[in-house]
Amino acid sequence: MNYLVFMLVIAMCFGLNEGCNVNTLELLNQLSPGSILKVNCSSNRNHVEPLQEVKFNGKYRVSVFEKGLGERIVWRCLLRHGNKVENSQTIWRAYRGAREPRCGEIRSWIAKVDGIYMEKNLKSEGLRYHWIVTKK
Ligand SMILES: *[C@@H]1O[C@H](CO)[C@@H](O)[C@H](O)[C@H]1NC(C)=O
Repeated sequence: MNYLVFMLVIAMCFGLNEGCNVNTLELLNQLSPGSILKVNCSSNRNHVEPLQEVKFNGKYRVSVFEKGLGERIVWRCLLRHGNKVENSQTIWRAYRGAREPRCGEIRSWIAKVDGIYMEKNLKSEGLRYHWIVTKK
């Protein structure tokens, strides 16, 4: 019986430790009704997320695992939208890991008509990028 409790405690600790490496990168479409935000993200550790199409008022989330060793993890994302003209921008440090693994960090990038806004752990950091406009 004691052994079972011991195993349970061990399992819970592992569970918590695992959980304490998960952070969130999210991209939100707050452009205009009917708009589609196209997003593709990848990391410096060869994660490549498939292209996403985020509907108006929708969001796309990527779980980010920060491992303790080696190079800090950095995620970058390409955001695009528009019909007659294309608006695009690459966010080179959409998520940047710390030296020590963290959990519960949230980086939100909010696509609006005038540019891309950022929130760090749900606190606004304001307008961070303008769109680069190219004719199609
Ligand atoms: C997004 O996809 C384009 C086209 O396939 C590619 O050139 C670009 O490197 C990708 N960007 C990121 C941040 O993954």
